[in-house]
Amino acid sequence: MIPQETIEQIRQATDIVQIIGDYIRLKKRGRNFLSLCPFHTEKTASFSVSPEKQIYHCFGCGKGGNVFTFLMEHEKMSFIEAARHLARKANIPIREERTDDFRRELLDRLHYANQSALEYFQKTLARSKYSTVRNTYLREKRNISDEAIDFFRLGLAGDEWEGLISFASRKEISPQDLDKAGLALLSEKTGKYFDRFRHRLMIPIFNLSQKPIAFGGRTLKKGEPAKYVNSPETPLYVKGNVLYGLNFAKDAIREAGSVYVVEGYFDLISLWQVGVRNVVASSGTAFTLHQARLLARFAENVNLFFDADSAGRTAALRSVDALYDAGLEVKIVEPPEGEDPDSLARKYGREKIDELEHDAVGFITYRVKDFDRESAGIIAREKLVKEFQNVGAKIGDPTRRSLFFSEAADLMGLDESVFQKGMPAPQAEDAVGSRRRRHNAIETEFLSLLFNNPGTIDSIFERISPEDFDSRELSRLYSAIISQYKTVGVVDARKLIDSVEDAGFISLITEVASVPWNDETIEQETRKSVKRILQEKSKRIRTRLQKELAEAEASGDERKADDILQQLRSYGLDAQKNQD
Ligand code: UTP
Ligand code: MN
Repeated sequence: MIPQETIEQIRQATDIVQIIGDYIRLKKRGRNFLSLCPFHTEKTASFSVSPEKQIYHCFGCGKGGNVFTFLMEHEKMSFIEAARHLARKANIPIREERTDDFRRELLDRLHYANQSALEYFQKTLARSKYSTVRNTYLREKRNISDEAIDFFRLGLAGDEWEGLISFASRKEISPQDLDKAGLALLSEKTGKYFDRFRHRLMIPIFNLSQKPIAFGGRTLKKGEPAKYVNSPETPLYVKGNVLYGLNFAKDAIREAGSVYVVEGYFDLISLWQVGVRNVVASSGTAFTLHQARLLARFAENVNLFFDADSAGRTAALRSVDALYDAGLEVKIVEPPEGEDPDSLARKYGREKIDELEHDAVGFITYRVKDFDRESAGIIAREKLVKEFQNVGAKIGDPTRRSLFFSEAADLMGLDESVFQKGMPAPQAEDAVGSRRRRHNAIETEFLSLLFNNPGTIDSIFERISPEDFDSRELSRLYSAIISQYKTVGVVDARKLIDSVEDAGFISLITEVASVPWNDETIEQETRKSVKRILQEKSKRIRTRLQKELAEAEASGDERKADDILQQLRSYGLDAQKNQD
């Protein structure tokens, strides 16, 4: 947590033009800066950065935000990372919030506990008592070299019930902390703590700062029901945020521009041993969006390299959504029947892996492969169309999405329009495009004037309320503007963005706020705009009343008809007043 004042200070000291200028070339055009959009492919520059409002907006794809969202989207930073980055640039020292010291201290203790456990497991594996684990299990049976054992810092949990507990106590780590770190358990029977991991090969899991945060423990016995026992989630270890091996692989992934995703620790280690280093392991669970975005920081292409069995296929398919959602390109590397990356690397070496990668097929091809165009029934086709629609809806970039559908259409021998119909609402970018067409132009113009602080705002709020709007989303934006003005006394798009989570709404804010106005005519334009809004409102009410009148007349309800007529007259007069 960074204190709010510091965030404010960072904001004051930061110029969005300079920061974005670090990543793309901006050209001055009038009051704004323009460039090709870094978020989608385009030929004419429609990405606009406003130094006055400190926001950006792409009129092509709809992406918009402030300096924070830019760093978060473009550089895949977290909010805190973005704040630290900006603080560094502006020479602002960051003192993280005091209330956080307690948590910081806990995290430090948990790191220390994991670090000590790692040391203990490595020492245990080196003991002469366990030489058969090293020689027979690791070297002979699994073909794992000493170099790999050292590199991956493999270790062993011995047979003792309190091996780690007593090792840790010598370092003044309490059993309670080991428990919090997921390394010990409390026995309800004896009321005493004991080691969570016993008689298992220990694979440490590291975060991107190369610190151990959790362990996977593989059984050494045949027929043991739990093949793996893993650390539970702890404050340090949130499973959905971690990918095994990314700490080792990140540079290789960047270099290759692609990453293999395998299922098991041993798949990864075996690939590493034959020189394939751009690998992470999903540890047998489906990808979360967080993990996919993590990968997207380092590469654009993902090669799913799972076991040839059906569990492997299912796991691959469950991951595809998140990967497309993160903007990644997905290919499937298929091992021959009965093999997995581990066995392939050991039996055939590097060449075989390269060969399989060369033969990897895109996700669509992979799915369509066992689909026989001639014989597949309508239900089978429909299922596949729906599956592609769901994945396609995750693709943010409209061009990319339409390429995706045209490939699917081609391979299935269908018309592309089949995919567009009944597709779930696509993500942010296209939602923006269609919203722009849908939005009420008069209301958009009115709100864009407010973002330019035309001065007479208080009186406007008295005359126009959010309920007077036709468009629901613009009405929501108007409410947000009113409440911001009432609390801080200005309308500031940049700050409004920070209080909003939903990307669609952010791009609505920047879209509306980016409309330029001339300072000299803005007050006059605002007066005209207010009038138009009120006229539109009257018009809508009149139309409704006229419809009600016709209905009342048709049903012979004279009383009601009279009443409506009365109302209509007053609205007619109102409307005229507004025209003056
Ligand atoms: P695998 O069963 O394929 O394990 O599960 P593996 O790592 O390839 O092990 P070997 O080669 O059979 O010895 C793939 C991954 O799923 C997770 C582990 O992360 C494992 O590496 N897993 C599997 C568990 O967490 N628990 C289990 O009981 C099984
Ligand atoms: Mn496996």
